[in-house]
Amino acid sequence: MKIVAITGTEVKGCTYNIKNIFLDTLREGNEIKEFYLPKDCPHFCCGCKTCFNIDENKCPHAMDTMNIWSAMMDADLLVFAYPVYCMRTPGQMKALLDHFGVHFMAHRPKKEMFSKKAVIITQSIGAPNNAAQKDVATSLTWLGISDIRKIGFMLMEGANWDQLSDKKRQSITNKTVTLAKRYTQNYKVHKSIKHHILFKVCTLMHKSALKNEVNQSVDTKYWLENGWI
Ligand SMILES: Cc1cc2nc3c(=O)[nH]c(=O)nc-3n(C[C@H](O)[C@H](O)[C@H](O)COP(=O)(O)O)c2cc1C
Repeated sequence: MKIVAITGTEVKGCTYNIKNIFLDTLREGNEIKEFYLPKDCPHFCCGCKTCFNIDENKCPHAMDTMNIWSAMMDADLLVFAYPVYCMRTPGQMKALLDHFGVHFMAHRPKKEMFSKKAVIITQSIGAPNNAAQKDVATSLTWLGISDIRKIGFMLMEGANWDQLSDKKRQSITNKTVTLAKRYTQNYKVHKSIKHHILFKVCTLMHKSALKNEVNQSVDTKYWLENGWI
């Protein structure tokens, strides 16, 4: 199995350690590629829409975004690990995912995404993790991934991994390893009902665009080429 892990902080702290516990369970026999933010994609989407209107390879940040996107396309399991910042996803993670909006189902979805699995690993000092997880889960859903698992921890004892009690670290380790072990079984992913519905709605949208457009958009051409409309 090929795994790509994107960590939303360069700090070698709690996120880093929990992500490593997850990956360590899967190192044997699997190929793992890792990226760290903001180092590996220190850009905000500038809104030029080159990706939507021309080609994502012509994005001014393509030298970084396409590197990560190619790794994601190549992987079977995508891992997103990040701390909760101000109750939400850290900006660097959102900034990366904004660059992939062109591959949302409403635009030019990649059919390879339908069979991938994804894991979202988060932690906070005390805030609920749900809102921060939802930001990334929404992107992954629209990219076409049906199998998304989330695990979140409220540290409660501080923000320094080395200063957490053994009991806390052990509890985090046990839960993280249990989740990782799920991926040692090579099960197949089936498109969820939600994804079938979203795809159908997008199909209708593109059929309508095809009828109304004078010049076919890049999205319309893509849907035609794939035989979806
Ligand atoms: C800018 C910033 C904002 C944060 N916001 C919150 C927050 O709203 N709620 C919370 O419980 N923890 C918050 N934290 C703590 C982080 O979620 C995390 O627990 C901490 O940074 C330790 O993780 P790390 O070692 O991976 O950096 C914040 C940390 C930073 C640096």
